[in-house]
Amino acid sequence: MTGMIDLRSDTVTRPTDAMWDAMREATLGDDTLEGDATVQALEQEAAALLGKEDALFVCSGTMGNVLATLVHATRGGEAVLDQHAHMANSEGGGVSRLAGLFCRTIASHRGEMDLDLLSDNVRGGYSRYGEPTAMVAIETSHNAAGGCVQGLEYFSRVAGVARERGAALHLDGARLFNAAAALGVEAREIALYGDSVTFCLSKGLSAPMGSVLLGSREFIERARTLRRTIGGGLRQAGIMAAAGLVALRTMPAKLADDHRRTLMLWERLRENTRVEIDRVAPQTNILRLAVPDGRAENHARWLATQGVAVRASSPQAMRLVIHRHIDDTAIDTVSNAFEALPG
Ligand SMILES: Cc1ncc(COP(=O)(O)O)c(C=O)c1O
Repeated sequence: MTGMIDLRSDTVTRPTDAMWDAMREATLGDDTLEGDATVQALEQEAAALLGKEDALFVCSGTMGNVLATLVHATRGGEAVLDQHAHMANSEGGGVSRLAGLFCRTIASHRGEMDLDLLSDNVRGGYSRYGEPTAMVAIETSHNAAGGCVQGLEYFSRVAGVARERGAALHLDGARLFNAAAALGVEAREIALYGDSVTFCLSKGLSAPMGSVLLGSREFIERARTLRRTIGGGLRQAGIMAAAGLVALRTMPAKLADDHRRTLMLWERLRENTRVEIDRVAPQTNILRLAVPDGRAENHARWLATQGVAVRASSPQAMRLVIHRHIDDTAIDTVSNAFEALPG
């Protein structure tokens, strides 16, 4: 993909120079023996920043989400997620396969579950027909819903339902800092609603790998053991944590640039007759396009010949993700390429 304008995901971002320097100079230990000082620094800093008691460095967002589910699932039962949640659709079925929870999905619009349906489906205890809900999960920003961000009022209402029924609330905040930038709040103001929270260092924050799982001290202690169970105990993980620390300290403030450019591209693509774009302006860095003629894969192949890499998520849909390697000139090139799509 060298030389391409790569809009397939914000996970394609490369480490910054400061990250490379930090990786080279990191103080290292063995994270599953005596501990790795750089990993510990990242965990402590992330916990303090997000207002949680403790944190755990994990390999990926999926690993953070599955560990949260495993901890919350100790008593068995069900998981309640929105029907378009990444955890329900794109994480290899870990909620059920690894954590053994029945996965109950709720109709949602723009990443918001219908609150009446949610209330009807979160079970507070055992009944003749089912087990209690162990975990409710929410996602922000919402990947499948085009990066949209629900309001704090929504998080508070979902947390209220979960709490009232004794279920844990997990927040899949793979792009939590994008959500915070869109709402104009500190990330901790969103994180406070989750009993557990995952955020990714490896997406718009540009670190080469890693995510952070946060929660109470007791929750993280259990997650740490379970990370070992699933083979996520790393050794000189400080190399990656060093890049993660730079990401955490320096990158959230830059996400607004990605959001501004996403809006620029949306404005240009609104004029395009070959694709249909959401009428509602994007809030963060993801654009989902409908391709009514069913030629999304053809279009993606042709765009690649013009130096633009996009993902056709189905014959009728494409996803474009803006990140720090996409500048204003690239936005121009991309919109011109879309305008020139062959008929
Ligand atoms: C909302 C959401 N959650 C979780 C993940 C999983 O992250 P990872 O790819 O690091 O496992 C993603 C990845 O795109 C995501 O978009």
